[in-house]
Amino acid sequence: MELREAIGRRRSIRFIRPYRPVEPEKIQRMLEAARLASHWGNVQSLRAVVVFRDSAPRETLDALYAPIAGYQIRLAPVVIVWFIDTAAVDEQSDRLRELVDAGALGFGEKKKTDLEEKLIPVFDAILESLKQPGLGEVDCGQGIAQATLMAYEQGLGTCCLGTPNTDMIRERLGLPDSCRVLLLQTVGYPAETWEAGGQRPRQAFGDLFHMNEYGASYPRSEEVVEELTGDKMFTAPAPLPWREEELAYLQRALGLEGTGLL
Ligand SMILES: Cc1cc2nc3c(=O)[nH]c(=O)nc-3n(C[C@H](O)[C@H](O)[C@H](O)COP(=O)(O)O)c2cc1C
Repeated sequence: MELREAIGRRRSIRFIRPYRPVEPEKIQRMLEAARLASHWGNVQSLRAVVVFRDSAPRETLDALYAPIAGYQIRLAPVVIVWFIDTAAVDEQSDRLRELVDAGALGFGEKKKTDLEEKLIPVFDAILESLKQPGLGEVDCGQGIAQATLMAYEQGLGTCCLGTPNTDMIRERLGLPDSCRVLLLQTVGYPAETWEAGGQRPRQAFGDLFHMNEYGASYPRSEEVVEELTGDKMFTAPAPLPWREEELAYLQRALGLEGTGLL
């Protein structure tokens, strides 16, 4: 699948076929995609524990909780617990040395001494602040996004879920104190059509993106919009006319009567 179409077909899939297991190799491909994502200083702080519903202990499954549309966790054969390990920042100097050795950073004869005498001290001075929520989470998000596209490319559906149960999950999975749970991602084969009701609403392009200064909308070429529509990145907006019937059908098929939004 082309990248543009893959971006256009990605939806949060909340309705998963509970009876169809996900092949571990497909999850591996997601993790491989996450591992290649970029990260400041090449620090690579994104981590995950993949929980398979069929083999994980009951107590682990019970700890996975999301307050909004949390029924998804019960349906999904796989839940990826994505977390950041801030201890990765402690090794930032070595990651920078690897970058220089790899020819990715710096040039000329002085690059190694510049690294040791100038760049590493700058990073070391702000080491603890770099562990705080911020850039690291952004980079983890890049990895999760790449994993998500890989899931769709393999015919899977996923939904990211925020959870307030981070302490309980951390304890249950045995994560070190240096880790922060980021989110739960359900993975499985979609029970709904790929459109999942259509492209979910997005705010106007011009309200989001600016050129040269805040308030000056980035110019949006209609030609580009038409091109991306032709490439299937832009798809029909939600709600498609039959969405309510599809939702009623899914609710019956998956035994979700009475669950509503929660
Ligand atoms: C970090 C993150 C957390 C989310 N948490 C939840 C959640 O707890 N429950 C849920 O149903 N959807 C959750 N979502 C899905 C969003 O609601 C969804 O992305 C948004 O409605 C847009 O729909 P789309 O992903 O199909 O484009 C989350 C998405 C992200 C990226």
